[in-house]
Amino acid sequence: TQQCNVDDNVRFDCFPEDGVTQSKCEARGCCWRLPKSSGNHTTPPRRGGRLLPTQDVPYCFYPSDYPTYSLSNLKETDYGYTGDLRRSTHSYYPKDIMQLKLDVYFETNTRLHFKIYDANSQRYEVPIETPKVTKKVPRPNYEVDFVHEPFSLRVARFDSGQGMNETLFNTNITRSFMFTDQFIQISSILPTSYIYGLGEHRAGFLHSLNWTRLTMWARDIPPVVFLGPSPDQVIQQYTEVIGRPFMPPYWSLGFHLCRWGYGSSDKTQQVVEKMRKAGIPQDGQWNDIDYMDKHLDWTYDKTNFSGLSDVVKDLHDHGQHYVNIIDPGISNQQPKGSYAPYDDGLSIGAFITFANGSLVKGQVWPGETVYPDFTNPVTKVWWTAEAKAYHDKINYDGLWIDMNEPSNFVDGSILGCPDNSYEHPPYTPDVLGDKLSAFTVCVSAKQYWSTHYNVHNLYGMSEMIASHDALANIRGKRPLVISRSTFPSSGKYGGHWLGDNNSLWKDMWYSIPGILNFNLFGIPLVGADICGFGGTTTEELCQRWQQLGAFYPFSRNHNTLGSKDQDPTSFSPAMQKSTRDILLIRYSLLPYLYTLFHKGHVTGSTIVRPLFFEFSMDQEAFTIDRQFLWGSSLLISPVLEENATSVNAYFPADTWYDFYTGTRVTSQPSKGKMITLDAPLDKLNLHVRGGRILPTQDPNTTTTASRNNKYGLIVAMSMGSVANGELFWDDGDTLSTYENGKYIFMKFSAVDNKITSTVIKNGYPYADKMELGSTRVFGVAKQPTSVSANGKAATFTYDSKTQMLTVSDMSLPMKVPINITWK
Ligand code: GLC
Repeated sequence: TQQCNVDDNVRFDCFPEDGVTQSKCEARGCCWRLPKSSGNHTTPPRRGGRLLPTQDVPYCFYPSDYPTYSLSNLKETDYGYTGDLRRSTHSYYPKDIMQLKLDVYFETNTRLHFKIYDANSQRYEVPIETPKVTKKVPRPNYEVDFVHEPFSLRVARFDSGQGMNETLFNTNITRSFMFTDQFIQISSILPTSYIYGLGEHRAGFLHSLNWTRLTMWARDIPPVVFLGPSPDQVIQQYTEVIGRPFMPPYWSLGFHLCRWGYGSSDKTQQVVEKMRKAGIPQDGQWNDIDYMDKHLDWTYDKTNFSGLSDVVKDLHDHGQHYVNIIDPGISNQQPKGSYAPYDDGLSIGAFITFANGSLVKGQVWPGETVYPDFTNPVTKVWWTAEAKAYHDKINYDGLWIDMNEPSNFVDGSILGCPDNSYEHPPYTPDVLGDKLSAFTVCVSAKQYWSTHYNVHNLYGMSEMIASHDALANIRGKRPLVISRSTFPSSGKYGGHWLGDNNSLWKDMWYSIPGILNFNLFGIPLVGADICGFGGTTTEELCQRWQQLGAFYPFSRNHNTLGSKDQDPTSFSPAMQKSTRDILLIRYSLLPYLYTLFHKGHVTGSTIVRPLFFEFSMDQEAFTIDRQFLWGSSLLISPVLEENATSVNAYFPADTWYDFYTGTRVTSQPSKGKMITLDAPLDKLNLHVRGGRILPTQDPNTTTTASRNNKYGLIVAMSMGSVANGELFWDDGDTLSTYENGKYIFMKFSAVDNKITSTVIKNGYPYADKMELGSTRVFGVAKQPTSVSANGKAATFTYDSKTQMLTVSDMSLPMKVPINITWK
């Protein structure tokens, strides 16, 4: 007699696959009941997890007495607890692991780690480096308790403020815990209905919790617990485990231009020249696969791209940089001796094989290809050698690595896949194409780390590591690697773009949840193809997208083959002007952005933030994914709709100033408010938060040039007339400047009528050249009669209407304290 009296809202799905029926359900020992909300439907709606992510209450669910594991021998250890888990009856999937071991590590005050694993044999574990902790922290901010029979575990966070503990994780809610060879399941009730993150998906920021399934399986597809308590702390604690984001080269924060199908080096050169002529900032010019000879990696088309090395030289002469695409698929169809990347790779065993040792052959751009196994150390050596040989010809600065899910135009291989339990697992997650090998390689293929089945989602990251290390080795400078496929820890090695979007207003909006998510994943250097990849953009869409994209951490306009040109110079003078203006604003704010990247690299805090990260008590902010913040201080409110000339923007309860005029829009109200802002076609709304100081620099059309300019400050006073900020600066390109102390770090503070700085560290060799030029102060209530900068009279203007004080160029050396006062 099963206990099927389970409330609709705590039913745990016992048949997540398609095609559930009462008899199939009951054969699993589960309960079959119509939910109260089912109306007259006697069969459940079809589970189109992908198309209809919001599903219904399951008809088939675990009874409250479902057989599961029991816990015995629970013991305290130096690091926490250890115990044994056993089950005596089998579950419905093959190969139950009947004896498991439980280890609970009290790792830090804010991090608990529990691990459940096969007690008797070693299984594959994700090969990313995480901290090894052997000693329990004495006073963690959490408690853990256990139920022995049946086994369950509960984690609660002490909440000193409210004097109440909050349960964060509790498996004592259903008996669905399973551990079989190819199906592992653990269930908990969540402490909140606000869930974000969980892998790259094309959707809004906040997830729906109505029996939604999120599948994490890397695919080439165009888009159709840590304690906190604050959300930003959760990310800092997470990246403490998976690794902090890399420090990007300064030039990578400039604007980049790319398209598939320039078709020639001449055309590539022309676009760069048009950009220069139009005075539109550009740091990076990129080439897509059409630069290659027959789409072969590490070659270029000697006919149409014969001038490529001159293009690259010209870019370098202008302080600009060059990045090219590389795909993992290596052609095996070239005459022997004519294509070293394949011949060399084959001779050292660099490619993925089947269990019997024969090569896995798929099909990508160059036709039939094999796939490097980047998890193999010999492959990394080979990859570096090929990258170096090509670099000797074309002096590229960064690598754009694509198609690395890995993508395959045929399922599995040109010969199909073997028939085994990897290819046909008892449970297939809700993957596109309904089989794991769909549009990728056979999952039973062999890789150095493990079977592809285990390491599929790490393919892109393993290529990122190999490419990052190759670039560092070849150039001796900070590498830029932008990858389509990523995994937790990828942020240590590079950045990401959101893949093949379309020139649609909706896709422009989706880019915001996309970049917010990647900041949660510890991969903050992220952006979407500005103006859209597929389809044809309109001037209006492209103009709005250039405005939004000027605030992507990684800002690149990219377009598909055969589509109309969409670089800014292919539009009207008005569109070009608006793009130039907004990019110059981006460039002026790069010292602030760069300082955020430094913070991210050192503490793991996010660069682009959702509003609720800063206002975590404000429920209104929880759902906002049409606006975002740079750090804690700059609010970006783009237009995401066609023909709009205004935008409804949410201002969380604080003091906010208009970036352009310095006008105060809110004066610390008790509640956040929605405000309709003017947003003519040439305007992106930007607001600075009171109490903050943003470091800036006079912009130029490349970062190489702007880095020679004077710095500035935007001082936005709080209602109590204080403000704070900081600046991290180094040469922008040398490896490990922070780790080697080759940087300058200063803090700025404003109180009443005085701005001062403190140099915390000065190890930057060129600090002598840094000078503070002009400064804008928002929220100065009274007209000053004089301003002094380090004791000398300074020129200034004051606008009594907006209460903005502008001090003109002061040329103050920045490596020593500054002191600006007004009377
Ligand atoms: C993939 C990439 C896209 C690129 C194209 C050709 O679709 O996502 O950015 O342009 O391949 O290389």
